[in-house]
Amino acid sequence: MKKDTWTFTNNRNNESFDFDILDGSRGPAVVDTASFYKQSGMFLHDPGFNSTSGCASDITYIDGNKGELRHRGYDIEELTSKYKYLDICYLLLNKRLPNKKEAFDFDMELRHRSFIHTGITELFASFRDNAHPMATLSASISALSTFYFEHLDIESPAEMRLMESRIIAKIPTLAACAFRHSQGVPLIFPDIERSFTENFLYMMRAFPDGKMPLVDGKQKFIKDVEVRALDTIFSLHADHEQNASTTAVRTVGSTGAHPYAAISAGVSALWGKAHGGANEAVIHQLEMIGDISNIDTYIAKAKDKQDPFRLMGFGHRVYKSYDPRAKILKRLKDELRDELGIDGRLIKIADKLEEVALNDEYFIKRNLYPNVDFYSGLILIALKIKTNMFTPIFVIGRTVGWITQLAEQLEDKSGRIVRPRQLYVGK
Ligand code: ACO
Repeated sequence: MKKDTWTFTNNRNNESFDFDILDGSRGPAVVDTASFYKQSGMFLHDPGFNSTSGCASDITYIDGNKGELRHRGYDIEELTSKYKYLDICYLLLNKRLPNKKEAFDFDMELRHRSFIHTGITELFASFRDNAHPMATLSASISALSTFYFEHLDIESPAEMRLMESRIIAKIPTLAACAFRHSQGVPLIFPDIERSFTENFLYMMRAFPDGKMPLVDGKQKFIKDVEVRALDTIFSLHADHEQNASTTAVRTVGSTGAHPYAAISAGVSALWGKAHGGANEAVIHQLEMIGDISNIDTYIAKAKDKQDPFRLMGFGHRVYKSYDPRAKILKRLKDELRDELGIDGRLIKIADKLEEVALNDEYFIKRNLYPNVDFYSGLILIALKIKTNMFTPIFVIGRTVGWITQLAEQLEDKSGRIVRPRQLYVGK
């Protein structure tokens, strides 16, 4: 059968080269240009990888025009309405949803693996207490690679499976340590009696002796609605195919580095405000706007090409329609507004800002819609989480995606080290 090909013709010398067109199971076809340099002696130039596919993957599918997000074939709406975060983790890792027993065993396994070596807690003591939790979190994850090293064989699926559950289980503990250190509060260990998500809230809030703070003379407990809201936030961040942080993880992983070093690179890549750091920046921006009467001034700044100001939580490389994760969070914040006590003043500014932007020619022409970071912060504030922990919470949710992507890459024996080329313009 004749293969579909794309012919590149060089009008400098009329040379032509054919490249195979490959079809995925969904989404745009790709042109296999791996031999482009060998055949033509030229490189393909695509800074920011606007049009470049770097791998084949069966984990997550996004249709940015339709605003569709699927993990292992399941739509994100279905996953977040019917399943918990740990079920989604299981789905990503095992390519199928767990049955009741598997879900229970996975939950128990993670509870047991959630403890960290005291050497790691001592490491936190050496960090400055005003350090951002993303910095200490990234460093502590990297330090985890000083453990579990001697016998690590990343070629072994069984060892990778252990690595996967260890890292997913330990990240909330490390994130809580990063927060407590930033507040000058002694670190505490996980409470194995609590579920994954509740345990994280517990480690953020509890006194050093493990007791919960007293409110009106009664010990404050963690509300189910708070656990549900945070679990949904974790679920919405679980994976997002080849974004900047996942690409960082795959790039480091392609060299054969320790998986935890690769995850730590992902954390660092996520920190920037063009990526996961936007959730923290959104709240600072809403505070800065301060009142709906100031919205027009900030919209004008966002449109002014001489002004570096951008509307945080707006725009996305892939979504050219409403980000489906933002849609779910917008609904969730409206549903939980009274129960959680979400800050009405900031909601008013956010809702109005969205309305004005979505009706403005500049935003319409560029397909700029709210992304996942636009509404998550409003919910996190209601959970009494400080803004410096918004991006670490993104890390907790995304770790499963990073480690699943890394495992997929390591299983692909045809994989090569990631090594782009350049257009040299120097002397
Ligand atoms: N506010 C104002 N203008 C914007 C915004 C924004 N938030 N985002 C994009 N634009 C404009 C750009 O100025 C550009 O305009 P031009 O064509 O006149 O030059 C056009 O829209 C395209 O923008 P690019 O920067 O080329 O788009 P890119 O795909 O490279 O960037 C990004 C995507 C980084 C998300 C960008 O939209 C942005 O900076 N948004 C704000 C930060 C943010 O919310 N990041 C979180 C993303 S979601 C995540 O990572 C979890």
